[in-house]
Amino acid sequence: MAAKNQVFIAIIGAGGVGKCFLGQLAKLAVRRPSTKLSLCYISTSKKALFNNDYSEISIDNAISSLSASSTAPPSLPDVVNYLAAAPSKVVLVDNTSSQDIADAYPLILSRGISIVTPNKKAFSGSNKLWQDIFAAAQSSGAKVYHESSVGAGLPVICTLKDLVETGDEVTKIEGVFSGTMSFLFNSFAPTTGSGGQWSAEVKKAKELGYTEPDPRDDLNGLDVARKLTILARLSGLAVESPTSFPVQSLIPKELESVASGDEFLERLPEFDSQMEQVKAEAQREGKVVRFVGSIDMATKSVKVGLEKFDLSHPIAALKGSDNIISFYTKRYGNSPLIVQGAGAGGEVTAMGVTADLLRVLSQIS
Ligand SMILES: NC(=O)c1ccc[n+]([C@@H]2O[C@H](COP(=O)([O-])OP(=O)(O)OC[C@H]3O[C@@H](n4cnc5c(N)ncnc54)[C@H](OP(=O)(O)O)[C@@H]3O)[C@@H](O)[C@H]2O)c1
Repeated sequence: MAAKNQVFIAIIGAGGVGKCFLGQLAKLAVRRPSTKLSLCYISTSKKALFNNDYSEISIDNAISSLSASSTAPPSLPDVVNYLAAAPSKVVLVDNTSSQDIADAYPLILSRGISIVTPNKKAFSGSNKLWQDIFAAAQSSGAKVYHESSVGAGLPVICTLKDLVETGDEVTKIEGVFSGTMSFLFNSFAPTTGSGGQWSAEVKKAKELGYTEPDPRDDLNGLDVARKLTILARLSGLAVESPTSFPVQSLIPKELESVASGDEFLERLPEFDSQMEQVKAEAQREGKVVRFVGSIDMATKSVKVGLEKFDLSHPIAALKGSDNIISFYTKRYGNSPLIVQGAGAGGEVTAMGVTADLLRVLSQIS
């Protein structure tokens, strides 16, 4: 029997973000005794932990119990059946970047299970998947929130929703949406000093853990395109997919098909002169180059790539690996609403997920 006001929490993914989320969930469960938050399922791609009678898993010991578990994760349909049969409401926290799990969101929501997630895949996939997700939520009453899918914990999606839902008119969204690209360009083309060689900056970013294991996964622009797809859709543009608008890749053609990230890094210095040229051209105009994404509502255009900015522009003045997102709207006129700060990291990303969980709890418990 479920306790009064009990909500079951199921977590898929216990990596960098998942572990931080567990820490925040443990504190939330103590701070919010009005709802009994019971962890009933947790898994990685190799292991799972759950009890057939839905008895609680200790949040504090979840990671060690999971690593000691010898149970392989059930199939996704079986997990959905298990959660749908729980004796109280369930929120699924998807802390993976799995496309398979994202594709199952319509099914999960249609079974009355709410979802909170930092996983971009569901919301930046096909427009059909986007439509199916929100149609399933609408008909079952389950909730779905994904604040951390853009700008990690920065309040980007909730801000945009507030602007749209209060009747403001978004005219343009522009920003630096990738911590990796931010770090690379802030050090390659700083507003003061000459900056480093492009290939050396990419190598340094990889050594510092700012890039994906293969830096080409950052330099191809797809991650930024996915975030722009999400914001464009929330602004009212029915973008078909993240490859349906211009996205500039910073991978030299000749290195697109080299076998490994290491070989890519080894050969990248051969192409430094191309990026030097881009930097010098901007310098001649008294500007710096940055990798940005923008959405222009008047022309219904979305694009991702290199742009030049005056040194006094907030995008030029960004530091470290920060993100910046400027919302130009009718109400804000010439003074855009700007959201800026750390756009990556386990704790800040998990904060966005925990805040989403609170949004769901306020509606279902
Ligand atoms: N880290 C950040 O700063 C940041 C910022 C914004 C958004 N995000 C998003 O947050 C999500 C998680 O990122 P992360 O950095 O925590 O990644 P991570 O460290 O790679 O962890 C991913 C976790 O998901 C599990 N997983 C992957 N596929 C799975 C599947 N099919 N079924 C069950 N478990 C699966 C992995 O298990 P195994 O280890 O067994 O494979 C691992 O526990 C991603 O969508 C990412 O894009 C991250």
